[in-house]
Amino acid sequence: MSQNWPNHGTISGPIVMIGFGSIGRGTLPLIERHFHFDRSRFVVIDPDDSDRRLLDERGIRYIQAAVTRENYRDMLKPLLTAGEGQGFCVNLSVDTSSLDIMEFCREIGVLYIDTVVEPWVGFYWDTSAGPAARSNYMLRETVLAAKRRNPGGPTAVSCCGANPGMVSWFVKQALVNVASDLGLPFEEPSTREGWAKLMRDAGVKGVHIAERDTQRARNPKPANVFVNTWSVEGFLSEGMQPAELGWGTHEPWMPENGRTHESGCGAAIYLLQPGANTRVRTWCPTNGAQYGFLVTHNESISIADYFTLKDGDGKALFRPTCHYAYHPANDAVLSLHELFGNGGNLQPEHHILDEHEIVDGIDELGVLLFGHKNNAYWYGSQLSIEETREIAPYQNATGMQVTSAVLAGMVWALENPERGIVEADEMDYKRCLAVQMPYLGPVRGFYTDWNPTKDREKLFPEDVDYNEPWAFRNVLVR
Ligand SMILES: NC(=O)c1ccc[n+]([C@@H]2O[C@H](COP(=O)([O-])OP(=O)(O)OC[C@H]3O[C@@H](n4cnc5c(N)ncnc54)[C@H](O)[C@@H]3O)[C@@H](O)[C@H]2O)c1
Repeated sequence: MSQNWPNHGTISGPIVMIGFGSIGRGTLPLIERHFHFDRSRFVVIDPDDSDRRLLDERGIRYIQAAVTRENYRDMLKPLLTAGEGQGFCVNLSVDTSSLDIMEFCREIGVLYIDTVVEPWVGFYWDTSAGPAARSNYMLRETVLAAKRRNPGGPTAVSCCGANPGMVSWFVKQALVNVASDLGLPFEEPSTREGWAKLMRDAGVKGVHIAERDTQRARNPKPANVFVNTWSVEGFLSEGMQPAELGWGTHEPWMPENGRTHESGCGAAIYLLQPGANTRVRTWCPTNGAQYGFLVTHNESISIADYFTLKDGDGKALFRPTCHYAYHPANDAVLSLHELFGNGGNLQPEHHILDEHEIVDGIDELGVLLFGHKNNAYWYGSQLSIEETREIAPYQNATGMQVTSAVLAGMVWALENPERGIVEADEMDYKRCLAVQMPYLGPVRGFYTDWNPTKDREKLFPEDVDYNEPWAFRNVLVR
């Protein structure tokens, strides 16, 4: 850690971090490293005090409590408004409503950032709510409605982790690379519509958020323990939501259990099955063709929405298909296999692998832009556990990609404090990636000639659409 880290600005008021789990813990040293702030007004709130040592040894105040629907206003207001300057609320918890806390922060003039549109506790497991009501589409629509109700004002950055978050910045960089390599005459767009036109003109039909986590633990996964490289609770919650994807205008076929929404932006569909039990074919550079899980994510919807071109009547003329294709760490794949085999009942024990238990591996997280004349292009981070250990403490490679995106989002918010509610797609991707780059390991682009019709029907007949190789019909494992 001999590097001279740049200072990215001053947080003039208090910092309140909600949640001190794997992401909160990893974000702490980045805040310390890159901002000037008043340590005596830095507060961390979390009901679980497992890591309070890290706070005690720094003299950072810790409040052992859960932020709830009932107490959030009373608890947060005095903390966020103590003393001079503008406060910053960094929400890295599970089970707290991003929307309510974000709106409250804006009400009291405080900057806000989170990494997911998180609902209050109970939402994900509400058996009385139908799949549409439990979708990320609906959660995102609540944030979009708040944005429409109250445009401008104090900046609140919604969903600014690795994905959702950083991958939206990758999509723009990848698109510029693809368009340049195709020899397309273009100027870098400055509007949403300009970006959508560039994607259409480049012939991109869709985007996978294609991730392969190869981090391996020293000890094999024991039976009845869910093992992951980041929040087990977070992963299970999203994994049990319906599979969701931004729905491209080129798609000739929809699965029989696919459903559209009756209200909202219309950019996505959902399937009547959990994302963590929905496999798709995708491609990442190190291992090549692979299965990933189509777990719902905010960016699947926001990216598809951002790159939509509509006619005067609001009908979509162009939209990319966009979804997550996630191959988590092998232990997490086994954990899911065990869970679904056992009727979807959660394992009694959860475990997040920390940087000391992981022997090797990388988190290869990028975007695969496909369907254009050069077939498909993956662009992303190939951060290893070894490099992560060298650049920052308290996290593995997966965490580092998230916490550095939180850092970038905080920098952008400080530099743009009156932009209202924003998603990563609406932020300055170059500035954000510039802040984040030192933490991402190799960030590279790769072309591939793979597509989801490749190596099919060798031993058995399959339902393959050879006319539209990148159709979801071919991508979805059925
Ligand atoms: N966008 C991304 O790339 C990305 C990646 C990883 C995680 N995330 C999200 O970040 C969040 C944190 O992830 P993590 O890996 O640190 O999870 P974690 O499970 O390690 O930590 C979550 C923490 O929140 C705390 N918490 C629970 N209820 C709370 C409450 N009511 N008030 C305050 N704190 C509470 C828990 O005690 C825990 O310490 C999750 O919502 C997760 O989905 C986003």
